Amino acid sequence: MLGLFMSKKYNVAIVGATGAVGQDLLHVLEKRNFPVKELRLLASERSSGKKISFKGVDHSVEVLGPDSFKDIDIALFSAGAKRSLEFAPMAVKAGAVVVDNSSAFRMDAGVPLVVPEINPEDIKLHQGIIANPNCSTIIMVVALFPLHQHAKIKRIIVSTYQAVSGTGMKAIQELENQVKQYSSGTELTGDVYPHQIAFNAIPHVDQFLEDGYTKEELKMHNETQKIFHDEKINVSATCVRVPVFRSHSEAVHIEFEKKISASKAKEILKEAKGVKLVDDPEECRYPLAIHATGQDDVLVGRIREDRAIPNGLALWVAGDQLLKGAALNAVQIAECLAK
Ligand code: A2P
Repeated sequence: MLGLFMSKKYNVAIVGATGAVGQDLLHVLEKRNFPVKELRLLASERSSGKKISFKGVDHSVEVLGPDSFKDIDIALFSAGAKRSLEFAPMAVKAGAVVVDNSSAFRMDAGVPLVVPEINPEDIKLHQGIIANPNCSTIIMVVALFPLHQHAKIKRIIVSTYQAVSGTGMKAIQELENQVKQYSSGTELTGDVYPHQIAFNAIPHVDQFLEDGYTKEELKMHNETQKIFHDEKINVSATCVRVPVFRSHSEAVHIEFEKKISASKAKEILKEAKGVKLVDDPEECRYPLAIHATGQDDVLVGRIREDRAIPNGLALWVAGDQLLKGAALNAVQIAECLAK
């Protein structure tokens, strides 16, 4: 299978090309000049025949089906776990390597879960499918891994402030509609979230589990352990949806095995890959979702020694969850494959 990456250009399929992440996958492939030979855009029947431009050339969206992957080298999946479970094995059978954005295969033993700044070597172990981690996990671990290397993390307590675009195009429209409805004094309507999202904060991302955590919160725990190759790290997350269009923010409290000062942490993060230190509170400079939007780097700031945790640090991160949290990370994985 690796043999197919000897050639210079690749036939690439995007599953879910019309979605929020799919659109960003196209922008990132274009911006980073990924060596695309042929591009196949796949979505549901609703989008059949729709034209999407890539590098100035219109491409027609095709309906995803069992025969969609003939001659495809790399298939980037972002159409939900159900579609991944059904069609990713077919893509692999047809000879493609799948980079999957959904949660379908992330915790499978034979599937590497990769953040290229952290564990690129895991890519070599793939058997056809490589998983892209959850967006909130990626944004947190990119910032924490350099600190983990220095002082070894024991546990993490994190609260997320997640943008609606993480739920997809329909959720973006729902927030837009509710803001307009509020301004015009009409009743707020919506069916994506269980509650009004405009001017609200909903502590409910993904389904609830028996122990009271949500699936999203459990993903942050499980995936951090898998990416760091450290099953001792415990993560307690509270994931909250907020009325922000794009970019997730997270308040993170970390206990390390040994003391790490705030100034040492800043020094490390200043040099870290995929991270931009924005930490000048006197000047009101700290990571903001509106500043993280459109940026490849995760912004980190508000770094301080945690008063309540031994050997602890507290910090605030903001990252574009459609870019580093999804599309950019997937394309970086594809670039590693191409190398
Ligand atoms: P479509 O636009 O045709 O519905 P988002 O997460 O932004 O809602 O995007 C989801 C993506 O997954 C879209 O591209 C959507 O296509 C695609 N998708 C949803 N359901 C299916 C399906 N049954 N078959 C193929 N693609 C699907």
